[in-house]
Amino acid sequence: MKETLLTILRNEKTGLVEFRKTAEKLAYILASEVSNMLEKEKTTVTTPLEKADGYKIKDNIILVPILRAALSLLPPFLNLFEDARVGFLGLKRDEQTAVANLYYKNIPPISSDDNVILLDPMIATGGSGSEAIKILKEGGASEEKIIFVAVICSQEGIDAIKTKYPKVRILNVHVDKVLNDKKFIVPGLGDFGDRYFGTPLPEIK
Ligand code: PRP
Ligand code: URA
Repeated sequence: MKETLLTILRNEKTGLVEFRKTAEKLAYILASEVSNMLEKEKTTVTTPLEKADGYKIKDNIILVPILRAALSLLPPFLNLFEDARVGFLGLKRDEQTAVANLYYKNIPPISSDDNVILLDPMIATGGSGSEAIKILKEGGASEEKIIFVAVICSQEGIDAIKTKYPKVRILNVHVDKVLNDKKFIVPGLGDFGDRYFGTPLPEIK
């Protein structure tokens, strides 16, 4: 299902409405997969008949979308993790250098036990993700409690993040092999934020 949805997102003919609906469906699947990765603890509940064993997620959850593109993933994650706190990091790549520049930061207090779910659909050079992880660790997050959720990653981006932050877990739908000379993922899907929000697409070929 994930690859089917990704194929729709990749298609240059997919318009704004279908792109948004498809991104939402994919985000529901990814949120569910994240829930499987979180540590649980045993609990008991009383059914109308008797006590039953059950589980609950052990530690608090903080969702951190990287603006803008990850705003597309946030609502499904908030639907599943209803009591999660949410922090925002605004990072924008310079169009010439592809270096990410931090323009906004609003992160709740983080304890080392918290599960920090970092959201960004695209990992290209890994620069935005690395900067975000650095900020989250400075804010108190444990590296091993950070799960980075993406849709498409380049191998180069994963390697850049894993070299600096080996304990961060990266969940993604597909790893594409190369970046072009403008640091866009190939084949990729183009600029996720622009396709999702309907802003003009940059020259990326
Ligand atoms: C895109 C994307 C990631 C980043 C990935 O955002 O959403 O945040 O680029 O590239 P990197 O791994 O090389 O850092 P962009 O900077 O275009 O901002 P936007 O979401 O506002 O469009
Ligand atoms: N950001 C995107 O949205 N797409 C890319 O391929 C690279 C960065």
